[in-house]
Amino acid sequence: MKIISVVGARPNFMKIAPFIRAVEKYNKENSNSIEHILVHTGQHYDDRMSMKFFQDLEIPEADINLGIGSGTHAEQVGQSMIELEKVFIKEKPDWIVIYGDVNATMAASVTAKKLQIKVCHVEAGLRSYDEKMPEEINRLVTDRLSDLLLTPDKLSIENLKKEGVADKKIKFVGNIMIDSLEANREKASKLNVEDIINNNLIEGQINKEMEKEKPEAEDLPLHSLQFALITLHRPSNVDEKQIFEPIIHFLLDEVGKDMPIFWPIHPRAQKQLQSFGLWKEVVQNENLVLLQPLGYHEMLRMNMGAKVMLTDSGGLQEECTILGTPCLTLRWNTERPITLREHGGASVLVGNNIEKLRKEYQKSLNLERIPERPNLWDGNTAGRCLDAILSYK
Ligand code: UD1
Repeated sequence: MKIISVVGARPNFMKIAPFIRAVEKYNKENSNSIEHILVHTGQHYDDRMSMKFFQDLEIPEADINLGIGSGTHAEQVGQSMIELEKVFIKEKPDWIVIYGDVNATMAASVTAKKLQIKVCHVEAGLRSYDEKMPEEINRLVTDRLSDLLLTPDKLSIENLKKEGVADKKIKFVGNIMIDSLEANREKASKLNVEDIINNNLIEGQINKEMEKEKPEAEDLPLHSLQFALITLHRPSNVDEKQIFEPIIHFLLDEVGKDMPIFWPIHPRAQKQLQSFGLWKEVVQNENLVLLQPLGYHEMLRMNMGAKVMLTDSGGLQEECTILGTPCLTLRWNTERPITLREHGGASVLVGNNIEKLRKEYQKSLNLERIPERPNLWDGNTAGRCLDAILSYK
């Protein structure tokens, strides 16, 4: 059997790593009967957004890198389709396996389907019901075209059924990202928070926390201090000044007064801060430390130690649920409702309304870390994904 996996952006990399492990294990026991080809569209190309994750997660170098790079959505998807079509025609795979909801996911599903190649979508059935999100369009198209839809939770199965997807195409396998988390948890836990900060300071930043005088906690190592961890990159938060600026001021003026804030900054957010004239204020603020995008283990370690997470990332909502980190999700909706507190998770939606953010932030200060494990988020999802492909009729 020949399988081509297609990845393109950072959130794909923690999903492909366990799948490759599962294929390797199967091949060892079954005389290399699966030929697996890894294609990277190159949507994320900075070393820190891409290569670092390949290294951290021991993903073999992509067999083919399409070098698509940045661009509008149509440019990214269009270029990916043109290049993927050549690869698919040449390689004639039995299956295309795609992950999540990034532009590469949709580009590969459309291209493969038109060539009558079977498509398997890992992380199928997630819905935010917000078609302003580019990822929702990617999810809808991909799920509509896929032959095998592997879901991370039961709520996703319901979504697919509501859309008329036949039962036999759907398989509940659990969350493949948690395979990576469990496989790397121990390694991450050995990292030192202070080292992570010092090794990842953005140019012009100093480790302000270490510079501060702490008379009562002079010898207290930083990792025993409380800190807030932030990530923001969604266009809905960072692309408009009138939305982004109040969030920044809430962080600097309120959260920063309570505890240090560490912010591994996404290239999109950095560009927007610079273009809105907010960069200098953020860089110079003494309560906030800007970091480069962190590696996989570094981010996991920071998440393990954070008092509170403020994020608009989907994957972090899931990781916070497993680790129990109180998570304020700066979105009005989520395609991952299982991570919400009402479903037992660690996250609460706060949109970008500062009142709501303030209220939930205050509440989160009194919350304990309570890890939760949704059904089949057990670290063994990749094996179930491969079984589903192999037993497909
Ligand atoms: C993409 C995914 C999103 C995911 C996010 C995680 C889609 C539609 N979106 O959004 O689902 O949550 O990745 O990171 O696929 N840039 C760099 N270096 C890079 C990559 C990007 O500087 O390595 C810049 C680009 O030039 C662009 C901006 O960052 O200006 C955003 O990149 P883009 O690929 O458009 O999407 P993301 O916002 O990263």
